[in-house]
This record gives sequence, C-alpha cells and structure tokens, in this order.
Amino acid sequence: SITRFPLIRVRGVPLMSYIANNFDSVWDFRPDPSDILIATYPKAGTTWTQEIVDLLRHNGDAEACKQAPTPVRSPFLEISSPPPIPSGLDLLNKTDPPRIIKTHLPFQMVPRGFWENKCKTIYVARNPKDNLVSYYYFDQMNMTQPEPGPWEGYIHKFMRGELSWGSWYDHVKGYWLEREKNNILYLFYEDMKENPRREVERIMRYLDLDLSDEVLSRIVELTSFKNMKENPMTNYSCVPAPVFDLSVSAFMRKGEVGDWTNHFTPEQTKMFDEDCEKQMRDVNIPFRSLI
Ligand code: PPS
Repeated sequence: SITRFPLIRVRGVPLMSYIANNFDSVWDFRPDPSDILIATYPKAGTTWTQEIVDLLRHNGDAEACKQAPTPVRSPFLEISSPPPIPSGLDLLNKTDPPRIIKTHLPFQMVPRGFWENKCKTIYVARNPKDNLVSYYYFDQMNMTQPEPGPWEGYIHKFMRGELSWGSWYDHVKGYWLEREKNNILYLFYEDMKENPRREVERIMRYLDLDLSDEVLSRIVELTSFKNMKENPMTNYSCVPAPVFDLSVSAFMRKGEVGDWTNHFTPEQTKMFDEDCEKQMRDVNIPFRSLI
C-alpha cells in the first residue's frame, strides 16, 4: 500500500521522510568525473532535459533510448524506496559511468564529489508561477507526496518554502550563485520552449559533443512534448497506480509557458509577485517572465 509521506527537515530543507532518512548515504555518494548531473527544482523540466541528454549521448538513436523508462536510464540520486521507482543509489551502483543523474537537491546538499570531480551539471529553472502550478497537479497525482491541500494554501506553502525539496527561491538562487565557479550550464524552461533547437545545441556544446544537423533535428523532434507524452519510456506510465494516479493528472500534463494565468486570480498574482520581487531582490537571474 502507498502512503503520503510527511516532510522531515534535513539541514533546514523539508524532504519526504523516506528521502530524509536516506540522506546520509546519498551525501556519501562518490560520482565519477564522467557522470552528468541534471539538477532542478521539481517540475522545472527535468524529464525533458534527461531525454535530451540521453539522446545526445546516443547520437539521436531513439531505439537505444527506448530500452528503459527515464528513471532507469537516468537514476534519481536521492530516491530510496518506495517501489516502483528504483532506488537511485542501488541503480547507480549497478551502472557503469558515465551516468546521467537526476537530483532535486538544493546546491548545498548535492554530494561534494560532483564539484570536486568537476562533473558536468545542467540546471533548469522555470518561472515560479508555472513551476508552482505544475507542482500542484503533481502533488495531487503522486500519492507519495504530501497532500497539496487547497490551491490558495498551496501558493503560500510555495512562497514559504514548505513543499518537498524546500524553497524554489533558495533553489534557483543557490545554483545561480555557484554556476561560474562550478561550470554549471544554467538553462531556462522558457528558452527551451521558445527555441528547443538552440537549447539542445547549447547542451551539445556543453557536453563536448558534435552531432550533425540532421541528428540534432531528430532529437528536437523526439523530445517534443507530444512525442514524449506518447512515449511510454518518457511519460512515467512506468509508475502505475496507486503511486501515480494518472486519472488525476498526467505526468506530461500540458508542457506550456503561462498556464499560471489559468489558475492565479488577480489578487493572488499581486500577492505572489510582490513576495517574489522581495525574495529575488538580492540576485539578478535573467528570467524572461519572472512575474
Ligand atoms: S519531475 O517530477 O520533477 O521530474 O518533473 P519535471 O520533468 O521536472 O517537470 C514536468 C513538467 O515538464 C513538462 N514537460 C515538458 N514540457 C515541454 N516539453 C517537453 N518535452 C516536456 N516534458 C515534460 C511536463 O508536462 C510538466 O509540466 P506541466 O506544466 O505540468 O505540464
């Protein structure tokens, strides 16, 4: 049976209990210098980026990237139980480098070896209101996440950093401030939507790969929202009920920029934007649509 896990703070960051209880072994994980890290706040475009990177690494070979679902091809570092999502550390120990590793941990909680070994790291940030909306649907359909509760209260939890993996503000700022020192490729979901070809090429160059125009076009096509929604290896149909209740919301839900306008009232927008402006004042991250 499945249960919605309570949040436990680790170093001040709320994590689902089963992740919090596993954190010490995650912290001790030693990556290989060839490993690639994809880091995001939840629902910012992780799966999309995982698929792009896997296809780039396989020279656009769609069949090679359909051998297993996303969380098997690209282990989720801090996930332990419950099944059926495989434990990240177990999978990593069974897989030879180079591996494509997913994490939602904030920068300061990522095992130090990633930075000591100068692992390539791709961070994806998404505008906060769309990120929040996406998370709200996810928390309804993922029966292991804490109950999201009513919409208005959820907005407040997001603003206060009380959702799983903590504050969106701290997360995007944490990686932003470390990006130069640690050679992190910092991407935006909105840029990927605007010109996926350009962003796929950026990732290719960052990974020191050189693929043909034709292969790049194929990768852009294979990683379109529509194709990833239909692809059983990327649409998380590998996680069946009762863990993911896809009748509540699809994992590949909408894949758009600006869906927040369908959810925030004018009052909520004003309150959120004022708070966001305050929380983001100390950094200048070039979000194209922060508010
Ligand atoms: S998770 O659970 O944190 O790994 O989720 P994550 O993959 O980060 O985010 C899921 C949202 O990303 C959207 N998505 C995409 N958008 C555009 N193009 C592609 N190919 C794509 N793949 C996934 C997905 O639909 C979720 O956003 P919403 O707004 O809920 O639709």
